[in-house]
Amino acid sequence: MSYTEKGDLNADGRMDTPAFHRNQSFVVEVLKTELGDISSDVLEVGSGSGQHVAKFAETFPNLTFWPTDLDPEHIQSIEAWRRATELANIQKPFFLDVTSDDWEFGTENRPPSDLAAIISLNMIHISPISVAKNLFRGAGDYLSATGKLFLYGPFKRNGEHTAPSNAQFDATLRARDPAWGVRDVTDLEEFASANDLLLDRRVPMPSNNFTLIFSRRN
Ligand SMILES: C[S@@+](CC[C@H](N)C(=O)[O-])C[C@H]1O[C@@H](n2cnc3c(N)ncnc32)[C@H](O)[C@@H]1O
Repeated sequence: MSYTEKGDLNADGRMDTPAFHRNQSFVVEVLKTELGDISSDVLEVGSGSGQHVAKFAETFPNLTFWPTDLDPEHIQSIEAWRRATELANIQKPFFLDVTSDDWEFGTENRPPSDLAAIISLNMIHISPISVAKNLFRGAGDYLSATGKLFLYGPFKRNGEHTAPSNAQFDATLRARDPAWGVRDVTDLEEFASANDLLLDRRVPMPSNNFTLIFSRRN
C-alpha cells in the first residue's frame, strides 16, 4: 500500500481516500485551464483508488482517460469506480510499472502514442527517483507535439523544502523507505530536458503542494 493515509474500502473494492477529497477540486481547476474542451487521450500514472480519474472523466467528457497502476488492489479499486460511474470515457485500468522499459502504447488495448496529457498525482515521492526519471522518458515517448505532463504533490526547490510541513513529510517518507522522498524541481527539470521537455508552469496549490506542468521544448 503506497498511501500515507489509508481510506475506507467499499464492499465492491472502491477505495475512498481522504487525500482525494482534499485536493480533487483544485487539481480539476488547473486541468481546466490547460485541457479546455479538446478531444483526445489522457494517461493517468499511479491512479491509486481511481477516484481522481472518475472525477476527471466526469469533468472532461471529450477526453478519454486511461488509468493505470502497479498495485493489484488499486487496479481493482479503479475498475470498481469505473463501473460505478458508468462513464464511457474511462478505459479499463491496466498494469503499468513506470520503470518498465517499453510501455507498448499504440498497441491493442493500450493508449495511443500521441497523448494530450499524462497526469501523475502524489506518485513520484512515494517511489524511487528512477520512477520519476522513467516517467519523463515515457512523457517524451508518448506525448503529442502539444501534449503536457502534469505532476501534483509537494516539491523542493534548489534543495530546499517550501514549507516545514513538507520537510516533516519528507522525513516520514524516508523513514518508511530511504529511496522515497519529496523531489526537487531542479532534478525534474533535468529529466525533462533529457527528453526534450521543459517546465511550463509551477502552479501553487493548497497545503504547500504544487502542480508542475511540462510541455515539449520547441
Ligand atoms: C500515494 S498513491 C497516489 C494515488 C493517486 N494518484 C492519488 O493521488 O490519490 C501512489 C500511487 O503510485 C503507485 N505507484 C508507485 N510506484 C509506481 C510505479 N513504479 N509505477 C506505477 N505506479 C506506481 C502506487 O501503487 C499508488 O497507487
